[in-house]
Amino acid sequence: MKSVFITGGTTGIGFELAKLYLYQGWRVGICARDRQKFLSAFSSDQNKISFYEVDVSNREQLKASIAEFSKTEGLDLLIANAGIGYKNKSKVPDFESSYHMVHVNLLGVMYSFEAALDIMIPRGRGQLVAVSSIAGYNGLPGVSAYSATKAAVLKYCESLHLDLGQFNIAVTTICPGFVETPLTSTNRHSMPFIIKAPRAAQLIAKAIEKKKMIYAFPFFFSSIVRFISILPRTWYKFIITRKSFDYSKR
Ligand SMILES: NC(=O)c1ccc[n+]([C@@H]2O[C@H](COP(=O)([O-])OP(=O)(O)OC[C@H]3O[C@@H](n4cnc5c(N)ncnc54)[C@H](OP(=O)(O)O)[C@@H]3O)[C@@H](O)[C@H]2O)c1
Repeated sequence: MKSVFITGGTTGIGFELAKLYLYQGWRVGICARDRQKFLSAFSSDQNKISFYEVDVSNREQLKASIAEFSKTEGLDLLIANAGIGYKNKSKVPDFESSYHMVHVNLLGVMYSFEAALDIMIPRGRGQLVAVSSIAGYNGLPGVSAYSATKAAVLKYCESLHLDLGQFNIAVTTICPGFVETPLTSTNRHSMPFIIKAPRAAQLIAKAIEKKKMIYAFPFFFSSIVRFISILPRTWYKFIITRKSFDYSKR
């Protein structure tokens, strides 16, 4: 039986991925901070899934939980999905939230990968996946630290994809556009091409299966974003400072 460990598997994208792998017959382990969310998310499947009450910014605890989960049957797939956004988007950075975001969105991915590689390298196989965002392609107004952490994850995984291939370890970066989850439920701005979380999980699982290096979706929206990312920055500034794009003003 194949094993997957998903960080942040109690709501949104992580929850849908956990359900999808569970129904495909995988052994599934998840972690999150709030056990209550786990109990209500998996009310009928609680004993089929291993839950760890762990904050991904706690390196030692995360390492211990991934090691514990993998002790008997190893680990085929690690999905570093846990992430946080801003409650309020602002022009002047909220530095407390920004530092916290670096710990969760960036260091949380590194800690997850470190723990998974302890298991995968000796076994000579495995796959690491990080959920970045299309927000990592351009520095977006009002969400500076979020964009920065997602860009860092994107480049971190790009390097690892090149480095770890020789150890038979695939590395995939997922860059979703807008997905309907608790994270986006408080957004007051428009969210073009938003998709439902179960659909997002299906697309992500397919990209993971194909061992893609980077997978950005939905196709049309992510293509526009990626095209904008290669424009001269003065052009980017002109486009993004149009009133309709300035999320931080609302
Ligand atoms: N939704 C979107 O439109 C969108 C777009 C692009 C990228 N993403 C990325 O996709 C990932 C999942 O987002 P989502 O929309 O599914 O969010 P979500 O519904 O808010 O779910 C986040 C999950 O992560 C857990 N979590 C949060 N902080 C954690 C921490 N410090 N340690 C351990 N677990 C933690 C949460 O549980 P607890 O609160 O109990 O810890 C929850 O299970 C994130 O990395 C996000 O940046 C989302």
